[in-house]
Amino acid sequence: MLKGKHIIVGVTGGIAAYKTATLVRLLVKAGAEVQVIMTPSAKEFVCPLTFSTLSGKPVISEFFTANTGQWNSHVDLGLWADVMVIAPATASTIAKMANGVADNMLVTTYLSAKAPVFIAPAMDLDMMRHPSTTRNLELLRSYGNMIIEPAEGELASHLIGKGRMEEPENIARVISDFFAPKDLAGQRIMITAGPTYERIDPVRFIGNYSSGKMGYAIAEEAARRGAEVTLISGPVSLSVTNRSINLIKVESASEMYRQCVDLWPSTDCAVMCAAVADYAPETVATSKIKRERDEVPVIHLRKNRDIAAALGQTKREGQILVGFALETDDEQINAIGKMERKNFDIIVLNSLRDKGAGFGTDTNKVTIFCADGQTRPLPLMSKSDVAKEIIDSITAFEHEA
Ligand code: PMT
Repeated sequence: MLKGKHIIVGVTGGIAAYKTATLVRLLVKAGAEVQVIMTPSAKEFVCPLTFSTLSGKPVISEFFTANTGQWNSHVDLGLWADVMVIAPATASTIAKMANGVADNMLVTTYLSAKAPVFIAPAMDLDMMRHPSTTRNLELLRSYGNMIIEPAEGELASHLIGKGRMEEPENIARVISDFFAPKDLAGQRIMITAGPTYERIDPVRFIGNYSSGKMGYAIAEEAARRGAEVTLISGPVSLSVTNRSINLIKVESASEMYRQCVDLWPSTDCAVMCAAVADYAPETVATSKIKRERDEVPVIHLRKNRDIAAALGQTKREGQILVGFALETDDEQINAIGKMERKNFDIIVLNSLRDKGAGFGTDTNKVTIFCADGQTRPLPLMSKSDVAKEIIDSITAFEHEA
């Protein structure tokens, strides 16, 4: 997405400036042309040579070059840029940008820029929550700038709170996502991911090996392409990187059922990637089942409701329902059977017989079957690439319908 893009990276005087070196490296690696502008105080934290080496361009900091008197045109720079990112943005620079105080090269260029602007604040937590900073950020938002919210964590002051500049990888991803085609804009997509846990007693459950990686990758891809995404996730150790994703955490199949059934009527498309437990203990022991008992406990199971089938039964015209099939034998027959029984428009088959496919891996090997008879067998690829293929199949199916 960033190949050939002109990016101005504005660096201001905060300790997080050292992380901006990584940001510049990532942007250049992704094919962007990067021009770094540093405020005078930024140079107290990182030397310009670091940025000029990483970007392959002299760093600009002053209105004119001292030894030649050559003017650095903020107007030309502002026009050259496809996008501008200020990282880190200190409280002082944020205040200047919000109020048009053009006393350095960076703010002057910002005021001249026609390109979209991302601002990644970094400061101590008290400065971050001060009403003046809050108001200035609100003002910048109202001018159409995009704020990349700082994360919570340990700050340079050793205090803990909100104010850490977002990690360079995430800033680079946000900028790259900005240029991604927004072919899912205006669509509401619900995705289920991960396993469900069915409680036996307060310390034990019936679960499965799903890590959530496949479902989370689909959620990230759909959000990147402009969809309004709700991710209903069983217990996993993943987090979402795209903050626009509405993450709903559940534990059991019945909790997942409730959330899905409630959301389905206001959803355009659902992708059922979760490995939902088919059975749950009939009763849940209120205290830990003890080993010392003479008899081995017998756990009676009851059938969980089939979430996907319930959505399939109530599917209205225009809604798209995508299912997964995790198989070990007779893969194709079983997958197509599931597509018909559950009223799926698309089913994604992955087989545990394929190395690198299914649970826990970063890769998957799938075949995508559509209700109109189309079949797309895909080679082993990363789960992010599989997610792209699944979203492409959904958009193709929509266009044909
Ligand atoms: O999470 P990862 O580690 O990345 O692994 C990914 C995955 C292997 C879990 C994923 O690719 C996958 O195959 N998910 C579906 C697993 C599964 O439960 O398949 P199934 O064949 O048992 O179920 C068929 C479909 O019905 C699935 O869409 C499932 O979400 C849905 N279902 C099943 C039972 C139930 N009670 N409710 C459901 O909605």
